[in-house]
Amino acid sequence: MEFINIYIRDRSKTDHIIELPNDPAYSLMEMLRAAELPILGTCGGMALCASCHIYILSSHKLPNKNNAEEQLLDSLINSKENSRLACQLHIHESLDQLIIEIAEL
Ligand code: FES
Repeated sequence: MEFINIYIRDRSKTDHIIELPNDPAYSLMEMLRAAELPILGTCGGMALCASCHIYILSSHKLPNKNNAEEQLLDSLINSKENSRLACQLHIHESLDQLIIEIAEL
């Protein structure tokens, strides 16, 4: 699979669809930024800033959270069961058709 599609609801509840190259060298955070969606990625993907906090709205089976992601999400007031850090998700064909919402900062 050469490209994958991701559906994104931004903070103003506007929906976007982006087509991404299926390249695991990039994180979802990097791809959302490249698509000029409102993701800051302030810490550069180190799981330190939470500016890439998203909610997963589809039922995709995603890789487990690592300790750093788990700890940062636990510290957020708006964290939910379906919260993830986009910087910790690498592009993979298993993310095709993923539906996400960008969390409030
Ligand atoms: S970019 Fe900072 S936590 Fe994801």
